[in-house]
Amino acid sequence: MKIYLYGIREDEKGYLKEWDKAHPDVEIDYTHEIFTPETAELAEGSDGVVMVQTQPYQRAALKKLQDFGISKISVRNVGLDGFNFQDLRDFGLSLTYVPVYSPNAIAEHTTSLILRLLRRVPEFDKKFANADFRWFPTIGEEINGKTVGIIGTGHIGSVVGRIMMAMGAKVIAYDIAPNPALENLGIYKETLDEVLEQSDIITIHTPLAKKDIHMIDKDAFDKMKDGAIFINAARGGLVDTDALIAALDSGKLGGAGLDVLESENDVFQKKFDSIADVKDPQFQALINRDNVIITPHTAFYTTTAVHNMIFDSLNDNLKMLQGKAPKYPVDITE
Ligand code: COI
Repeated sequence: MKIYLYGIREDEKGYLKEWDKAHPDVEIDYTHEIFTPETAELAEGSDGVVMVQTQPYQRAALKKLQDFGISKISVRNVGLDGFNFQDLRDFGLSLTYVPVYSPNAIAEHTTSLILRLLRRVPEFDKKFANADFRWFPTIGEEINGKTVGIIGTGHIGSVVGRIMMAMGAKVIAYDIAPNPALENLGIYKETLDEVLEQSDIITIHTPLAKKDIHMIDKDAFDKMKDGAIFINAARGGLVDTDALIAALDSGKLGGAGLDVLESENDVFQKKFDSIADVKDPQFQALINRDNVIITPHTAFYTTTAVHNMIFDSLNDNLKMLQGKAPKYPVDITE
């Protein structure tokens, strides 16, 4: 039995070896390349495929899997917005994912973005670089006592909520399907608008369904409190970036912490000679602001998360190949 992995990074190789050692009957092979119509050929002769990428999964590439008789694919991440499920149905492909590789990784990163903005770390860093160690006027704010609004209270949003509560915030939340584990806390608001209107800090943790593209648009920013802080460590497409830039320009928004961007595939995971060489206009409009922190889709990136992404995806791919029920199947019927 052979499983082929795409997009393998150096930091994943140790975990891959570990899994391989524990499964002597399974052959594994991999490439650093992501899964495209060109690289799909590499999977020929394999039984299952495991991949991860922020680029969309192309129909022509998925078709090749069908041509090679491969029907079991697994992604080693949570977001499924790169797939058109119709493609999977058309080519008879079954899919698993890894929904809980480490909610804490993303929740802790979210917390760090909030703290860095509230304590004006970018400004202090600049002052420090200029040997300016004075306090004034860079006075900060505390999470304690703030109202933190959470949009999406699944695995990640619920951990963010618990961290914020432990830090003394008043947490309010909106979710189309409230999390039963949080319902007794009385945090849920009936509408998204209430969360937008009442929060000092708003953080979004929803998947990117087609209907949710630009969920946070001009209208949403207009509803927020003056000076609110907005965090997105979910998907860039959830936010109308031009509206975000306008809200920062007008001073309506007090700050933004962004681990994802609409146009991130042109920028993140690449090395440029300088920031000026990044040609993306939205990136350029956001960077160099004291009240904006951008991290390159690294909220997930911890040793715990990467270990679990490799192990959970391979375990499930193997289960499918053995004809057993995987732990995390994806319902591709809609
Ligand atoms: C996800 O798990 O969906 C992420 O955003 C992480 C990334 C490796 C794709």
